[in-house]
Amino acid sequence: MVKKYVFGEPFETDAVVAEIAGEQFGGNLVCGEIAADKEFCFRYTMKDADVIYGLGEANRGINKRGYIYVSNCSDDPDHSEDKVSLYGAHNFIIISGAQQVGLFFDYPSEITFDIGYTRQDLLEVRCKRADLYVYVITGESAYDVAKQFRKIIGKSYIPPKYAFGFGQSRWGYKTEKDIETVVEGYRGNQIPLDMVYMDIDYMQDFKDFTINPERFPNFPDFVKKMQQEQIHLIPIIDAGVKMEKGYDIYEEGVEKGYFCKREDGSDFAAAVWPGWTHFPDVLNPKAREWFGSKYQILMDQGIDGFWNDMNEPAIFYSKEGVEGVNQAVLVYAEELTKAQEAKGADNKEHSDCGNNTASEESEDILNKANALPAEVRSRLEKLQNSPEDYKRFYHNVNGKMVRHDLVHNLYGFNMTRAAGEAFEKIAPNKRILLFSRSSYIGMHRYGGIWTGDNKSWWSHILLNLKMMPSLNMCGFLYTGADLGGFGVHTTRDLVLRWLALGVFTPLMRNHAALGTREQECYQFEKIEDFRHVIRVRYRLIPYLYSEFMKAAENDDLYFKPLGFVYPLDKMAVQTEDQLMLGNEIMIAPVYVQNAGGRYVYLPEEMKFIKFMPDGSIYEEVLPQGHHYIEVALNEVPMFIRKGKCVPIAEAAQSVAEIDETTIQMLGYEGAEYQMFAE
Ligand code: GLC
Repeated sequence: MVKKYVFGEPFETDAVVAEIAGEQFGGNLVCGEIAADKEFCFRYTMKDADVIYGLGEANRGINKRGYIYVSNCSDDPDHSEDKVSLYGAHNFIIISGAQQVGLFFDYPSEITFDIGYTRQDLLEVRCKRADLYVYVITGESAYDVAKQFRKIIGKSYIPPKYAFGFGQSRWGYKTEKDIETVVEGYRGNQIPLDMVYMDIDYMQDFKDFTINPERFPNFPDFVKKMQQEQIHLIPIIDAGVKMEKGYDIYEEGVEKGYFCKREDGSDFAAAVWPGWTHFPDVLNPKAREWFGSKYQILMDQGIDGFWNDMNEPAIFYSKEGVEGVNQAVLVYAEELTKAQEAKGADNKEHSDCGNNTASEESEDILNKANALPAEVRSRLEKLQNSPEDYKRFYHNVNGKMVRHDLVHNLYGFNMTRAAGEAFEKIAPNKRILLFSRSSYIGMHRYGGIWTGDNKSWWSHILLNLKMMPSLNMCGFLYTGADLGGFGVHTTRDLVLRWLALGVFTPLMRNHAALGTREQECYQFEKIEDFRHVIRVRYRLIPYLYSEFMKAAENDDLYFKPLGFVYPLDKMAVQTEDQLMLGNEIMIAPVYVQNAGGRYVYLPEEMKFIKFMPDGSIYEEVLPQGHHYIEVALNEVPMFIRKGKCVPIAEAAQSVAEIDETTIQMLGYEGAEYQMFAE
């Protein structure tokens, strides 16, 4: 059952699509209590056995207890354990214990989930203004609650089938030649590949929807040539539109008034990759339609997939911010001059046997001046993504000017919606690949997400795994992390282990930052190990695609925590490093360096499967309980649930080349599998 409570005057976020009549809150809630005066606060005392699920793209565990999380879409590439905000804002939690209650706080600005941080048994959700909708969902189990929530937020985005293949990306590919080298590296080594991602350097001076003509002299031909090799090129689109005279999109946007504005009506300017930019006002339906229509420029050249980036929106600095620092620098210069003058005078006085007072005064000024560079540096650091800047611009929402910080978490959602809505018009019968960095619930209907700038750290394999079911609860099915790690130098074993998890995530992409060690699969010794792991993905695509489609069509989860399937099994509920996938399998990747295997917990008897490097498949039935499984770096493990089986095909170089007639069943003898029928 779903109830919708109205507090104050909520902003219509469009997260929920089901028509549910809102009720004024009468002081009665299934669990917990609400104080909604000027500020809003929900409070619930957690019982020892309560598990708190949800929050989608967030740090830490599948069970969110024991920390504090703030929904405040942030461009922050350091996902260390202490970070409270990442790129998305997914305000849905499930309290699972004696009661099974889902809560969705539909509030587009900063909101805090203190889940036992301040007081270990207290769950507190608070935000500055009491203007929001709270949806309360009760059900038989956490799983049931999650599915009910999924029903009210509308069907999840479905990508084209090729997007289930493997993709290679790197910030730093610049030219046709760079891309060809990648394709040769894969095709030449018989490592399957379906996508090469184009990061910002394909553009002319980082201008959205442009192609650098020197680097890509005949782009449509190049796209076609790649497509003949079954390679889809996926360009990045950034939120900021470069301010440059003569750049049509900039000029059109200014003329039509489609950029975010300052209070005085002028266009707000922020520096991002292209230098000074304006942000398209994607919360204004007209501006959204206009910005979305621009994707056609690249689609007309054969492009059929995009990734939307920097859409928190990320700001390096604003005009106002720079002016603030300029002021500080001026003050510093003035103080320094004064100090030097005073010192000069002081020295003179000293030589003239002068007095103490002048010396003290000059010392004081000098100290002040010395302190200023630190202040200037700290001011400079604070310019990036500053909360002050988010208060400096406005959206035109149906004629009403809404200050950005009040709706901050909706920007990435609406940038991606701009593209998704445009695709429905431009290519109504075609699925277009689309995923975003920033998001809010509701965006899951238009695109997927990748989890942003992680690092080549072993702990981030586990973070990747833990985020997946939480994202599914919030509607995001087509998701994945930068495999191999984005920031810092990677290692061969890390890439292999991470790929063995990536085999199962709908978005399987290797991506790395500029300046880091090259991590394409063909860059390492014993390329055959990489070839094998990626080939396993392609063998599993008929199954993974079928389960993805079932989850999307039935508002179900593709990845589930073990506790959703075995809610009465305490050990299963506590398991944070294994996941259920679809109806048939459980995954348990190795995420520890130098480990030759790992412990797994089987809530019931299962068949342990290992895809061996020689192409054979190792099968062993293991009873319920704890087991140590050996998994070499070049093996891919998974488990098939008792009495079930999964279809597997022969490997292929691309999704289009998978031969469905080679499909065989793997698993329990006599079991049947129902393939999703399109
Ligand atoms: C951002 C993105 C990253 C991309 C980079 C350059 O950091 O998150 O994926 O490579 O910008 O465009």
